[in-house]
Amino acid sequence: MSLNIKLNENYSSVKNNYLFSDIAKKVKTYSEAHPNAKIIRLGIGDVTLPLAPVVVNAIKNAADEMGKAETFRGYAPEYGYDFLREAVARYYDKFSVSLSASEIFISDGAKSDVGNIVDILGDNEILIPDPVYPVYLDSNLMSGRKVSFISGNQQNGFLPMPDGIPEKPYVIYICSPNNPTGAVYSRAQLKVWVDFALKTGSLIIFDSAYEAFISGDYSHSIYEINEARKCVVEICSFSKTAGFTGTRCAWSVFPDELIVGDKKLSALWSRRQATKFNGVPYVVQRAAEAALSDEGQAQCRQSVEYYIENARIIAELLTKKGISFTGGENSPYLWLKCPGGMKSWDFFDFLLENAQVVGTPGAGFGNAGEGYFRLTSFGSRESTLEAVSRLDKLL
Ligand code: MLT
Repeated sequence: MSLNIKLNENYSSVKNNYLFSDIAKKVKTYSEAHPNAKIIRLGIGDVTLPLAPVVVNAIKNAADEMGKAETFRGYAPEYGYDFLREAVARYYDKFSVSLSASEIFISDGAKSDVGNIVDILGDNEILIPDPVYPVYLDSNLMSGRKVSFISGNQQNGFLPMPDGIPEKPYVIYICSPNNPTGAVYSRAQLKVWVDFALKTGSLIIFDSAYEAFISGDYSHSIYEINEARKCVVEICSFSKTAGFTGTRCAWSVFPDELIVGDKKLSALWSRRQATKFNGVPYVVQRAAEAALSDEGQAQCRQSVEYYIENARIIAELLTKKGISFTGGENSPYLWLKCPGGMKSWDFFDFLLENAQVVGTPGAGFGNAGEGYFRLTSFGSRESTLEAVSRLDKLL
């Protein structure tokens, strides 16, 4: 029997499966057929190192507090506890960016915020780089938005710029260091985007989830660029920098200057979050606060350095093989051209079948990703070295 209700028809515009669910299914099928295969997963950007000791202690202490009547907490504030909002604001001091705690909204993930922000935005024209993290596109398609693409390619170093784009208001998505390509916008390039947004009255949604991997002279926050507060929501996460992919904590910055007519964007976001979100658990927010402490930063830094070394090891192999790639520096991702002109999904099958190494087909990040492939450096050192040795023999 069929229900007599209407569905959100916009869902017919998105692919049947989320990219990483598709990959997980393919790997499961392969591993069931080859139970002895030692599969190395360098596909989804999921961390493998444990939480930092100072973070684990904070979790234990907070759990103890939850077990005592005097310190027990119920619903968390929907925008985050003040202690964490303050800690995030202080984190930005090191980039000489001044934010007030009230401009910071704590959430359970950058993915959630990126997906949910469409709720407070109207029927704008959306500008999305291609290739790109699939959530930007899918969440806009699910809301029936009109999306235009700006192509990233080898010529522009996978860093599309607004040159030649008709000057009108857009909602623009930028991720730097970029997922999937690992490319990083220079300060001058970010300024061009901010100037374009200011000139056209556009909003930039800036995803800085990978900023901790920057070692060169690049902006960690887009608010380092003059006047960006007037046109950017920045979204960042503890997932990759403090190993919180399974612990879940992130933040979005809604500066007071973001105004449409007489309405502040932060007021709409507050309203949305208060209605649809009940806050991040106290225990997790204490863990995140610990990750931002001086000791936490030093410990988390060690994990980031470890992944950066993995990236260097993979980059070394690609260079040796003459395979062109971006990323691997200032980023945990390596974005390579599939050897022999292979298509992305063919190369995925080729690596899985012949080396039992899993990566992510570039085509999954958009049409411009066809013929490319993404590897992550989030594996263990042992599995990264093993993957490199298998690829060295195969490619
Ligand atoms: C990725 O592999 O692109 C990321 O892990 C996905 C995510 O952060 O949601």
